[in-house]
Amino acid sequence: MSAQALSIPQEFPSNLRRFDIRRDLNAVADLVELCFANSLDADGRLYIQQMRDAARSGPLLDLAASSGRTDLPLNGFVWQEGERVVGNLSLIAQRHAGQRLYLIANVSVHPEHRRRGIAEALTQAALQDLVARGRPKTWLQVDADNPAAVELYRKIGFRERMQRTSWRLLWQPSPNLPETHARPRARKTQDWARQQEWLDANYPADLRWQLPLEPVALQPGLRGSLERALSARQIEQWSAVQNGRLLGVLSWQSSAMEADHLWLAAPPKSEAAALPALVAEAAQRLYSYRPLSLNYPAGRAVEALEQCGFRAVRTLIWMDYPWKE
Ligand SMILES: CC(C)(COP(=O)(O)OP(=O)(O)OC[C@H]1O[C@@H](n2cnc3c(N)ncnc32)[C@H](O)[C@@H]1OP(=O)(O)O)[C@@H](O)C(=O)NCCC(=O)NCCS
Repeated sequence: MSAQALSIPQEFPSNLRRFDIRRDLNAVADLVELCFANSLDADGRLYIQQMRDAARSGPLLDLAASSGRTDLPLNGFVWQEGERVVGNLSLIAQRHAGQRLYLIANVSVHPEHRRRGIAEALTQAALQDLVARGRPKTWLQVDADNPAAVELYRKIGFRERMQRTSWRLLWQPSPNLPETHARPRARKTQDWARQQEWLDANYPADLRWQLPLEPVALQPGLRGSLERALSARQIEQWSAVQNGRLLGVLSWQSSAMEADHLWLAAPPKSEAAALPALVAEAAQRLYSYRPLSLNYPAGRAVEALEQCGFRAVRTLIWMDYPWKE
């Protein structure tokens, strides 16, 4: 299928040009900060600060940009009105399982210039660019509470693939956990087959490239021990059982970001019973009281998570672009 058949315009409007890291980084940091003011978390603020620091770093910026080893946006498009950048879209390349894929991010249009088709033009330009890159897998994430952006991407042809909720647990001195007949214990080697199966279901392959989850590091035995020893992260795992039956496994993974990670491997039928036992065990065993974040399929275990003290931070809709007919 050609770009024409996808109705991607071949010509850019004159206000639209490629993002230039040496020229646009500060303006894009300002625009992203303004447009996402209501939803920026600590990691988002850090990202903006990194853009501003990099913009000041001169030759170091050239080095980072040419090596490609940076979290800074390297590709994308901006919309300019006079001297001012009023629209931005970043195109972030990722590599996962030997495959290159792209994330469309930081889509932002200054409030004074909205509903003029700027975001649509930026997104069409990105798609046109991706046609030239061989139509790689192309994803974006949009807040479920952001109908303007959801509508924008639907109009362009993106399709919804999944919804994920980010949960946050802040430790309380004595958590008031719901009753359960499940009992916690250390994760055992024989739990791994089910744990892996449940992890694959709860964190599907299409999502893994965006998460700091590497199942091999959770694996028992030599392979997992080696992986853990070689990595900077620490990992602890607990299982919940009832009458000898495994209900679920919780993995804790340290992080350099605002919160440490939790991965919950449990099927829908037993996740609610497993959670209180697993959270109680984590509260006893973890020596760190850092906030914990859990990424989980939206709509799953909502009541149980809330009863265990988790708070839903946001639900993201994951969309991809259907290149194939
Ligand atoms: C979302 C955002 C980027 C849209 O930018 P924009 O330049 O105003 O969007 P466009 O004018 O290109 O709109 C294209 C289409 O998107 C949809 N759309 C855009 N804004 C909308 C709104 N407020 N309500 C409903 N639909 C909207 C419409 O379908 C629109 O087509 P139409 O004008 O023919 O009806 C802008 O509102 C913004 O910067 N928001 C804050 C940051 C943000 O949420 N970014 C998206 C992150 S995923």
